[in-house]
Amino acid sequence: MALRAVDDHAAVFAEASGRWNEQLMDQVSGVELVVVDEAVLDELVAVATTDAAPDEVTPPLGEGWTPDRVEWLRAFHRLRRTGFAGGEEETAAIRVGGRIVGAVRLHRSSPQTPDALESGIWLAASWRGRGLSAVVLRLIAERAAAIGASRLTARTTATNAPAIAALRRAGAIIRHDDDRSVYAEILLDDRRP
Ligand SMILES: CC(C)(COP(=O)(O)OP(=O)(O)OC[C@H]1O[C@@H](n2cnc3c(N)ncnc32)[C@H](O)[C@@H]1OP(=O)(O)O)[C@@H](O)C(=O)NCCC(=O)NCCS
Repeated sequence: MALRAVDDHAAVFAEASGRWNEQLMDQVSGVELVVVDEAVLDELVAVATTDAAPDEVTPPLGEGWTPDRVEWLRAFHRLRRTGFAGGEEETAAIRVGGRIVGAVRLHRSSPQTPDALESGIWLAASWRGRGLSAVVLRLIAERAAAIGASRLTARTTATNAPAIAALRRAGAIIRHDDDRSVYAEILLDDRRP
C-alpha cells in the first residue's frame, strides 16, 4: 500500500515537471521535483550540509550541522514518503540537470481549511539568485492544484527579502501579520485540472 502511494506521488511529480521543463527549458534547464528515496536523500543531505545554513533547512536545533540535526533531516523526509496517502504532508527534492539542489514540502496545516496547502522551499546557496525558485514554485503550485488545493500558502519572516520577492513574483498576495512574520497566498483556481 505504501509503495503504491509512493509510485503515484512520483508519477504526478514527473508529469508536472515534464510540462514545465518544456516551457522553461531556456530559462533553467531540466528542473524536476523528485521523490526523496534513500539515494536522493543521501544527495540532499550532502548538499544541505555543505551548501545551506542549518536553520534554512530544519527548525532551530542547536549549533551547526550536528549528527542529531542530520538525523532529524533524514527522518523528516523518510516519514513523509507516503505523501498525503499516509498523512498531511509530502516532500520532494529539487533536481536540476541531474543534480539535487534543494527540497520542497507541501503541508495541509488545518483540517478547517482543506483547500489550502502550505509550502516550504530551500535551495542550495550556490543555486540562489538565478530565478530558480520561480520555476520550483510553479511546479509546487501545479502539484497542489493537481491534488485538489485551491490556495497555496507560505509563511516566512519579515526579514527574508529573497523569499518575499520570490513569492511575490510567483503571484502571491503578501500579508505582514506583525513586525516579524509574513503570510503569502497564491490562488490556484486557474491551474486546477
Ligand atoms: C527564498 C529562496 C527559495 C529564493 O530562491 P531564489 O531562486 O534564490 O530566488 P530568486 O533568484 O528569484 O531571487 C529572489 C530575490 O532574492 C534576491 N536574492 C537571491 N539570492 C540572494 C542573496 N544571496 N542575497 C541577496 N539577495 C538575494 C534576488 O535578487 C531576488 O530579488 P529581486 O526579486 O528583487 O530581484 C532561496 O533564497 C532560499 O532557498 N533561501 C533559504 C531558505 C528560505 O528562506 N526559504 C523560504 C522559506 S518560505
